[in-house]
Amino acid sequence: MSVFFDEYTDFIPCFPAFQKAVSRPLPVHVRVNRLKAEPDDVISGMKSRGIAVRRVSERYRSFFILDGVDRPGNLPEYHLGHLHPQALTSCLAAVVLAPAPDSRVLDLCAAPGGKTAHMCELMENTGLIVANELVPARQSPLGHTLARLGVLNAVVTGYQAQEFPLRNRFDFILADVPCSGEGGFRAVTEGKKPGVRRSRTALPGLQKKIILRGFDLLAEGGVMVYSTCTYNPAENEAVVRHLLERRDAELLPVTSGFYQEPGLPSRNGEIYDGKLAAAARFYPHRVDSVGFFMARIRRGG
Ligand SMILES: C[S@@+](CC[C@H](N)C(=O)[O-])C[C@H]1O[C@@H](n2cnc3c(N)ncnc32)[C@H](O)[C@@H]1O
Repeated sequence: MSVFFDEYTDFIPCFPAFQKAVSRPLPVHVRVNRLKAEPDDVISGMKSRGIAVRRVSERYRSFFILDGVDRPGNLPEYHLGHLHPQALTSCLAAVVLAPAPDSRVLDLCAAPGGKTAHMCELMENTGLIVANELVPARQSPLGHTLARLGVLNAVVTGYQAQEFPLRNRFDFILADVPCSGEGGFRAVTEGKKPGVRRSRTALPGLQKKIILRGFDLLAEGGVMVYSTCTYNPAENEAVVRHLLERRDAELLPVTSGFYQEPGLPSRNGEIYDGKLAAAARFYPHRVDSVGFFMARIRRGG
């Protein structure tokens, strides 16, 4: 087998198992949208039509795997807004941020909107979510996602996240930043090399600006989740270190209920910060989904 991601052999645990996992296609995960439907009803409806549905975890009763369904976007449940195709690890971002009902929430990089809608569900359609997306061509799909899923508490804005106006402060912020996207590189066909769907360009300069602006937009006591779908420490631990060196930020533990590895305190002689053990790395041989990174950050006061 050829070597994928061989530059990461030093920190990805059980590397041969990791390589095997990325040479398998991604499973189809869906999240039942409780703003519009109850998981048991949606699942029994699909089962009655012969669709193989499995619950991912007893703890998270809205997350399912569909076996043998290549295009969940063609299901009637999708068009009704009863479910949303969303990688399991991507679903964990809203869970870890846990925005409270009636709070003020900012989603700095929101399109296509799966996490925005999930946060709305956790907030029971109360409070306010500002769903920000820079790229105009992605704002319209974002609006469609929110409308289809019955989101009533969100407005869409189009600022550069790193220059989002400092006029208002937020209780919860999601910084699900643009990244090299390596975590989504999986084989299209079993046993093949992972397909590279997007460029693998790392974006640490932009990410460092966004994490600083996100922190500055937090109300006192507010919480931000910084997340990426890449394994690259330059886009993960180094970005969080950039924040820790410049602001009085506290790293809170990430508790997902799934198999997670701690963030890296150092790598190849580069020290990040011992506190990064509180962050979480998700690998596809541990959780069969998109590779993911999350840090949960609190602003004191
Ligand atoms: C990782 S994706 C977000 C995925 C989204 N949170 C979801 O769950 O559906 C990053 C998004 O940031 C947008 N983006 C890129 N540069 C940006 C910037 N400077 N400010 C705000 N958004 C940006 C991209 O167009 C992309 O839609």
